Amino acid sequence: MNIFEEDKKYIVNTYKRFPLALIRGTGAVAYDENGKKYIDLGAGIAVNTFGFSDSEWVKAVSDQLSVLQHTSNLYYTKPQVALAKMLCERTGMSKVFFSNSGAEANECAIKGARKYSSDRYGDDRKVIITLKNSFHGRTITTLSATGQESFHQHFGPFTDGFVHAEANNIKEMRQLISRHPCCALFIELIQGEGGVNVLDTNYVKELAELARENDLLLIIDEVQTGNGRTGTLFAYQNYGISPDIVTTAKGLCGGLPFGATLFSKKVSDVLSFGDHGSTFGGNPVCAAGALNILSRIDDALLADVRRKGEYIRSELINLPKVKSISGMGLLLGIKTVENAADLVARGLERGIIMLTAKNKLRLLPPLNISDSDLSEAVSILKELLS
Ligand SMILES: Cc1ncc(COP(=O)(O)O)c(C=O)c1O
Repeated sequence: MNIFEEDKKYIVNTYKRFPLALIRGTGAVAYDENGKKYIDLGAGIAVNTFGFSDSEWVKAVSDQLSVLQHTSNLYYTKPQVALAKMLCERTGMSKVFFSNSGAEANECAIKGARKYSSDRYGDDRKVIITLKNSFHGRTITTLSATGQESFHQHFGPFTDGFVHAEANNIKEMRQLISRHPCCALFIELIQGEGGVNVLDTNYVKELAELARENDLLLIIDEVQTGNGRTGTLFAYQNYGISPDIVTTAKGLCGGLPFGATLFSKKVSDVLSFGDHGSTFGGNPVCAAGALNILSRIDDALLADVRRKGEYIRSELINLPKVKSISGMGLLLGIKTVENAADLVARGLERGIIMLTAKNKLRLLPPLNISDSDLSEAVSILKELLS
């Protein structure tokens, strides 16, 4: 039996996989079992910040792995504290809770917001407003938070207390806030899975103002947009807002499971002993990997992310089969004349890995993709889109 058949036989069939098994990779280049080369414009869905098996990152992770792999959160570990300190210093946030995934980081944010409201106002003010077309995870609660009906099937009863507003419609948001006993607004600034939809700056600023006026916590889901992806360390830094809670995961540890929920000063002590926990959260190996990643996302790298994003846009925007390009930095959505999924399949045949987001092509290459790999991939894309 080959890998495709054995996968189908032994693994729960929840993924519609492409007929591709990658065996090894370096940077943005990977090879399948036949030695065919692929240039990666997907980064494992925004996870491999510095590509495949980046040597500095591998060293940071393996050095930690060879001295101490896990202790439980009953004890202190140096990498976890160093990482929390670095995250706070680089964002102005005050405290961090570590977990293992984006959904868990969001669960923690939801618990934090509800606890804040219950401490101040009692238990009748718990509704959280999220946006239509959002994606916040696959747990029962983060599915409820996700503003897409297709995710609200089969698995009910879902967690109560989520209302979904139309993005960029401040009037509707005002109405929902006045109609529901709310504790938080919970948004992605760029809806990644939802089609790389960038929220309007004015709308986001008005949301922040509405949150402040009504003492609602502003929670920003940066699971996909965080860690340098949009050309700033976190996307909210492009919007001139100060969120109360920021969640992230994916690219934070560059390829190992990790999540973080960042709390501002106002809510830094809202979760206390016994309120939350995780066996693996903040694991020292993942924390060491994340420290390596974060310390390398400096101003020069961020400027390079913006430059490469602009390069892709300028090369593709005038092609006959491109309708529009959305996104920021190296999180780009391309609306195409042809079906995006077909283009991904044809890209694979030609040796480039891409993703879709709804009906768009989605590009999220490793942040340090070399100019030569990028221009090779772009010239294949140009052929596909001409
Ligand atoms: C914005 C956003 N939030 C949450 C999640 C869920 O993250 P995870 O799959 O790590 O649980 C994702 C995953 O795609 C995401 O893009």
